[in-house]
Amino acid sequence: MSERLKLKVPASTANLGVGFDSIGLALNKFLYVEAEISDDQKWHFHHKGENLHDLPTDENHLIYQVVQFLEKRFEVTVPPLKITMRSEIPLARGLGSSASALVAGIYLADFFGQLQLSEFEMVEAATEIEGHPDNVAPVLYGGMVSGFYNNHTNETYISFIEPPRVNLVITVPSYELKTHDSRQVLPDSFKHGDAVQYSAISNTMLSALIQHDYVLAGKLMEMDGFHEPFRQKLIPDFEKVKSIAKEYKAYATVISGAGPTILTLIDPSKSGKLVRRLNKELDECSSEIITINKSGIIAEKVYE
Ligand code: HSE
Repeated sequence: MSERLKLKVPASTANLGVGFDSIGLALNKFLYVEAEISDDQKWHFHHKGENLHDLPTDENHLIYQVVQFLEKRFEVTVPPLKITMRSEIPLARGLGSSASALVAGIYLADFFGQLQLSEFEMVEAATEIEGHPDNVAPVLYGGMVSGFYNNHTNETYISFIEPPRVNLVITVPSYELKTHDSRQVLPDSFKHGDAVQYSAISNTMLSALIQHDYVLAGKLMEMDGFHEPFRQKLIPDFEKVKSIAKEYKAYATVISGAGPTILTLIDPSKSGKLVRRLNKELDECSSEIITINKSGIIAEKVYE
């Protein structure tokens, strides 16, 4: 009898403006992974569909590297796997495609290496590899999560937030923006006074979000100073999307993760109209309503 593991791994959006590197939401677009122990003691990666064709199929594959990391950390051996993947999450667009693959790698190492990791140990490992929890935590848990990774002590802190009852519209440009390039434009440090101000904006935004005061939360999301002012120039369509969204009284328009996808939070009565308008006006982008994923990653064992 052969044993396979099937994973359905959500996408995610990080930052929500001022929540840079800490806040994220899981989204209902998925990476699908199927894995079984390989017959020939070699690793095999099969990528199906459009989104994954540029990925490596050797030891540079992120899933392979994550499995290696966990093998070392927990002193176990994971047998070489035959992995088939297909994805609805476009690469290098700020929708957490790497975080989804990273979490998939942790699940595979846990299952085939019989690690018995708790969900929290998974989030700790994922955060240590990624450097921040904003994408990986919602991918694991679903919903909206705020977190902090202390890279001096290697500790991870996670807090759950009730997801906002708004509609989300994503506007996905046809061009890629690699996270590495998008982080290159950020300053190394901030003046104390600026950091105090941005963190006050962030605290108040989160408090407003928890109280479902989307008008205030949205206003504060757009006041980010940690990353948006530096990244906007890398996303030529950002200003236009934001200004059209304002016509539909959107609560906020922010960069999704490291970009270039643009995320708009809007009242459900106006989201459809906004999407139709954006798709009419922007040639280089595709807009759609996307729902919040509440379950996080789902794993299913299949026996044949
Ligand atoms: N918070 C991260 C960033 C998300 O904005 O760079 C992508 O890793």
